[in-house]
Amino acid sequence: MRTAFAPGRVNLIGDHTDYTGGYVLPMAIDLGITVSVEMGGDRVVLKSGNERDVLDLPIRLSDARTTGDGWARYVAGVVAEIRPVTGATGTVISTLPSGVGLASSAALEVAVALALGYAGTPPDLAVACQRAEQRYAGVPCGIMDQLASTSGVAGHALLIDCSSNEVKPIPFPEGCEVVAIPSGERRSLWNSAYAERRSACERAAFYLGPLRAAALVDVATLTDPVLLRRARHVVTENRRVLDFATFFRHGKLVEAGQLMYESHASLRDDFEVSTPALDALVERLRATRGVFGARLTGAGFGGCVVALARPGVLSEGWRLKPSDGARVLEHT
Ligand code: GLA
Repeated sequence: MRTAFAPGRVNLIGDHTDYTGGYVLPMAIDLGITVSVEMGGDRVVLKSGNERDVLDLPIRLSDARTTGDGWARYVAGVVAEIRPVTGATGTVISTLPSGVGLASSAALEVAVALALGYAGTPPDLAVACQRAEQRYAGVPCGIMDQLASTSGVAGHALLIDCSSNEVKPIPFPEGCEVVAIPSGERRSLWNSAYAERRSACERAAFYLGPLRAAALVDVATLTDPVLLRRARHVVTENRRVLDFATFFRHGKLVEAGQLMYESHASLRDDFEVSTPALDALVERLRATRGVFGARLTGAGFGGCVVALARPGVLSEGWRLKPSDGARVLEHT
């Protein structure tokens, strides 16, 4: 029997920068997905915790994209990527809400890969799972979610350079906690908008070169106003991530929180991935004493707001602890 656990993540700052080779600053959280299997046979058979969903796939998939939808696609993608030597039968149990921007698909991919015996390094595991999601679930995602899930460090946020996949753990300062508050809108139909944003960034990079090295004066020369706004978000967001890391490291929570509000405004106005519900939630939090900062987290188009606040100030949502990355819990 092999049991593996993979955490979800919440992103403190740096959204829609990972797929441009930029910077992000997420943390692995204490909610996640546990997969337990007995190895054997030539099929992967997994039951969800409520036993309502059962997935049954051959280990040699000719085309993983034809295997149903929902969570089956992610599992099929991982099976096709890592090509386990034998099949497995077991269960999937989640404490992580799905569809709210806490990276439940990445946690599922990583937990399945580890349970099926994947033995590469954490960054290699993250890349294999990212490929599974891109190829088989059809989401042209970056590396942030999978890398946060594989490489989390308890008590730390993670400054990730998405051009090298280098992860620098940043210790959590005293006097704050992280809370994710759902906007009440599940993310829906976000795949196509996500792909469209990514391709706009690629077009901007065609004119400017890699956006991580682009200057705002160059961004201002773009003639297409939409491309200009998208590129301006990426360039300013990269700067905010690096500044946030410095403030956070030195316990400057007010300054760090201010950057979260600026990040939200940029995602709302320049990248246009916010919603009225997310905006209203951020404004409500801004007016709450003891909240340092708040912003939408993840892809946007619904989902959660992440807030940095004095401990105990917020009683809604999920209080999240910076946690260790994915691991095998039991192997007998
Ligand atoms: C999703 C993707 C990530 C990242 C975020 C936005 O979570 O999976 O790679 O692009 O959106 O920052």
